Amino acid sequence: MSGRIPKEFISELLMRVDIVDVINSHVPLKKSGANYVARCPFHLEKTPSFSVSRKKQFFHCFGCGASGNVIGFLMDFNRLDFVEAVEDLALFAGLPVPKEEGQGYRANLPKLNELQALLASVAEYYIEQLRVQQAGKQAVAYLKKRGINSQYATEYKLGYAPFEWQELTEKFNQDLLLMAGVLGVNDDDNRVYGRFRHRVMFPIRSKRGNVIGFGGRVLDDSMPKYLNSPETVLFHKSQEVYGLYELLARNAKPLRILVVEGYMDVIALAQFGVGYAVAALGTALTEQHINLLFRFSAEIVLCFDGDKAGRMAAWKAMDAVFPCLKDDRQVKVMLLPLEHDPDSIIRVEGVNAFVLRVEQATVLSDYFFAQLSEHLDLATVEGCSQLTLKAEPYLQKMPDGLLKDMMFQRLGQLANFKVARKKLTVKNLNKKKRISCSRIGQAFS
Ligand code: CTP
Ligand code: MN
Repeated sequence: MSGRIPKEFISELLMRVDIVDVINSHVPLKKSGANYVARCPFHLEKTPSFSVSRKKQFFHCFGCGASGNVIGFLMDFNRLDFVEAVEDLALFAGLPVPKEEGQGYRANLPKLNELQALLASVAEYYIEQLRVQQAGKQAVAYLKKRGINSQYATEYKLGYAPFEWQELTEKFNQDLLLMAGVLGVNDDDNRVYGRFRHRVMFPIRSKRGNVIGFGGRVLDDSMPKYLNSPETVLFHKSQEVYGLYELLARNAKPLRILVVEGYMDVIALAQFGVGYAVAALGTALTEQHINLLFRFSAEIVLCFDGDKAGRMAAWKAMDAVFPCLKDDRQVKVMLLPLEHDPDSIIRVEGVNAFVLRVEQATVLSDYFFAQLSEHLDLATVEGCSQLTLKAEPYLQKMPDGLLKDMMFQRLGQLANFKVARKKLTVKNLNKKKRISCSRIGQAFS
């Protein structure tokens, strides 16, 4: 696990860098009196109202009110979390990031850079193999058969991993290949093996565009159909989604994000004009996935295949969803007809019908209560009590707010009685006050 970044380091970093230099490298600034100005990168405007003060080390937009220090700027401009922004700033300043406890993997930045460079090169190598290998042509034929056109194969950097994997070790450093999960070590005899052999390769990119892992699909019906990179220092399945970088490159502020199950679904949807889909990486959705996506859009539509596994995955997703349900966030659920996944249905029904399905997705509250009530008789006391018992643990996980209150109210109506919901305790109220005070403090510090 990564440790905490010491506060002193952040202070030192803030002293060493100049906000004017950092912002200027993202948004060209012009000197204007004591300050620097530009057209605001956070809203559309014709005349510059975005101002950066060297003296205060602060930016402020008189148009939209955006303001903050250099870390805040990087977070908003590059859509980073706090730690990522500090790391970027440290890179800018040429300082290694220390961690308070243990040897956090992020402490080892040079190695990470090497791994990132390696994965980028391996992805390029796999792309090359589509052309140079006889079997690579088979992979191209497979992609064609699946209806993926070359523009999208290129955009998603699809490639081919040959059956013979040894060439990788001739071209690249074997230790790095192992660390990146491209090669594995056999538990029984300690022999090194190529993880992906004779597969179509889907590079998985971080939201910043770096290749961090791969998914690989067989070209026929053999099993296992997909193989994914293992967890590595760069690749954490529970935190990453497939297709986010490509999505944000198209539209940095999507109205909604559609979460589907498969790699092929993401690409097929993009090709048909639904450019706002991402997929989990062969794992159940996590809170981290959902929170990540809510950084970029206020609406998430969870789309599941029509089979039994899809329906089960939809219900399973509720565990991850409820803790993320703040008032300004909206989750919807979309179940496809039996026998269909997004890739197949958009080809059959076309894009308009698919978009209609997205727009008509079920709001979370309706889906949730309908699922729970499915086999209950709410005309009976027993049914109502069952519903309450099942629903309450989910609702309790919601952050305090109007939405939570209303969900409890709805439960009360459905179960036909007043659910005693704990009122905000004095302690919680204090916490809320503290948060808003510290926010104000931040803005002036
Ligand atoms: N998956 C996986 N390992 C498997 C099967 C599936 O990691 N053995 C993941 C992959 O990310 C895959 C997703 O789960 O994209 C959905 O799987 P599935 O619905 O079985 O496949 P499709 O995406 O429909 O794949 P395809 O259309 O290529 O058959
Ligand atoms: Mn499919």
